[in-house]
Amino acid sequence: MCGIVGYIGHRQAYPVVMKGLQRLEYRGYDSAGVAVYDGESIQLFKTKGKVEDLKNKVESSMNTAGNLGIGHTRWATHGVPNDVNSHPHYSNSGDLVIIHNGIIENYDAIKKELTKRGFTFESDTDTEVLVNLIEDVQINQGLKLGKAVQVALNQTVGAYAIAVFDKKKPNEIVVARLGSPLAIGIGEGEFFIASDASPFIEYTTNALYLEDGEMAIVRLDKKIKVFSIKDDALITAPYIQELKLNLEQIEKGGYEHFMLKEIYEQPQAIRDTFRGRMRVKEGIIKMAGVDDHIDKFINAKRLVILACGTSWHAGLVAEYIIEELVRIPVEVEYASEFRYRNPVIEKGDIVIAISQSGETADTMAAMKLAKEQGAFVFGVCNVVGSSISREAHAGAYTHAGPEIGVASTKAFTTQITVLTLLGLKIAKAKGKISTSDFHMHLEELNLVPQKVEEALQSNEQAKKIAEVYKDAANFLYLGRGFNFPVALEGALKLKEISYIHAEGYPAAEMKHGPIALIDEQMPVVVIATRRGHYDKIVSNIQEIKSRKGKIIGIVTKGDVTVRDLADYVIEVPEIMDSMSPLLTTIPLQLLSYHIAVMLNKNVDQPRNLAKSVTVE
Ligand code: AGP
Repeated sequence: MCGIVGYIGHRQAYPVVMKGLQRLEYRGYDSAGVAVYDGESIQLFKTKGKVEDLKNKVESSMNTAGNLGIGHTRWATHGVPNDVNSHPHYSNSGDLVIIHNGIIENYDAIKKELTKRGFTFESDTDTEVLVNLIEDVQINQGLKLGKAVQVALNQTVGAYAIAVFDKKKPNEIVVARLGSPLAIGIGEGEFFIASDASPFIEYTTNALYLEDGEMAIVRLDKKIKVFSIKDDALITAPYIQELKLNLEQIEKGGYEHFMLKEIYEQPQAIRDTFRGRMRVKEGIIKMAGVDDHIDKFINAKRLVILACGTSWHAGLVAEYIIEELVRIPVEVEYASEFRYRNPVIEKGDIVIAISQSGETADTMAAMKLAKEQGAFVFGVCNVVGSSISREAHAGAYTHAGPEIGVASTKAFTTQITVLTLLGLKIAKAKGKISTSDFHMHLEELNLVPQKVEEALQSNEQAKKIAEVYKDAANFLYLGRGFNFPVALEGALKLKEISYIHAEGYPAAEMKHGPIALIDEQMPVVVIATRRGHYDKIVSNIQEIKSRKGKIIGIVTKGDVTVRDLADYVIEVPEIMDSMSPLLTTIPLQLLSYHIAVMLNKNVDQPRNLAKSVTVE
């Protein structure tokens, strides 16, 4: 949560920082701020609200000239979102200024200690405490900024990505990372600092991702110095990588919202997930992260999937798919629950951590716990170079491309795609699937992008249904088998972007409670594809109808039975049952998108949420 950006070099820092903040707004957007060194003093402005609000206010009230600047877009943890709690924060002398993503857990004890020594605080934040701790160390121990930051950080407990500079030495920015991402873009005589590479991609493709526990001094006249926060040890050859990202991928490309763009990108995203892996004619799936450890996968007694939110839903779909194909038990755990109980990990267990961002704090902590207990950990991430992908023993990227909309769409379908490939690959290696069946699966999977394109043609129908039900107070989503997790995901999508209460349920569970909710006001979205327990779900639809619920059926093309019973249907193409989530999820994404747009909600940046949940 929170996005941080910094610049030092020959350009004007302000426009670089502001554009960067706009790109990072997906990480948090309840307040924003910027500080620029103008050659003599620091110009700082911060405000509650979005980066756009900041921009409007700054440009009428502050001198924005200067070649050194930092900026922040916030998702509040300590202290309500208001102007004072927004970042950047000054130290008491006014010389140091800091931006921070993360939480300093022992800030209260440090604050008390600093208060005794005469420090005062304007905000309720842990970050203001940290910048003053750095100042305290700097003054009392007579240290340079870099060393003072290192000493101060060793007194903290928590997580951070920080950037700090000192007005007295305006040719350097000191950065550090523990548990929150931080990338440094290296240009010609200029450096960029950011939570991910999107703020600097048009300026340089050379990036250095700090590892957890590392800090760096980014100085104009010298090479970047990277060293360990713990013991000051110099990292002699930090890895500078060449980024593949391009600008087009992170812009809206003519769509009104990122979410809609990303929904429509799914056919291509799934093709990209296949690329280089699935060779249909030869009947081969190549996945380096699996091939290199194939014995472990063949001998695995159990798979434990760890994830949060939409990624957890993808994990549930994978449970159904992998158990069916591989015939070993699969358990899907909320990472946040797994890590706080005493989980049983046994020899021969493989843990799969799924995360679009690769930065989710709970997923990261859960996978570390599993690793400590001896598990082999396989990561399924979208963001290349992200923390989870680096912490895993092996893994597979989804290659969905940047997902900016806070509501996950293409991340979900590409995660299911990777996990389907994984299931097929293990099943083949274990001899659990015949060659002909394996080929048949590959051929069917290969048709998915084209069928997703067809499913996207339901857009107008989804819009029409959205118009009818947009004012409903509640929605129920039902599905069975492979489509039960899709019901959960459909409900989550609606909740998070339209703020309408929605529940997802296994259709048969309805009669154990949720049926009491059904009356003529209640729209019930039922996933009723032909191959998945069709007769049973038709009975469930009858039960809803007898209680006057409004039925929106997601059906296989050409269906007549549900069409006769339902108030509205949306058709998706025929497909093998195990792959149907890749299609049935499309109209649910579109339905929630249109409802949110019609209700005038901020689709890409729903209230209280952030794209990357790096706090516990
Ligand atoms: C989905 O629409 C969400 N906004 C959210 O549930 C998300 O899937 C969750 O926070 C996990 O994120 P990750 O995949 O980046 O780990």
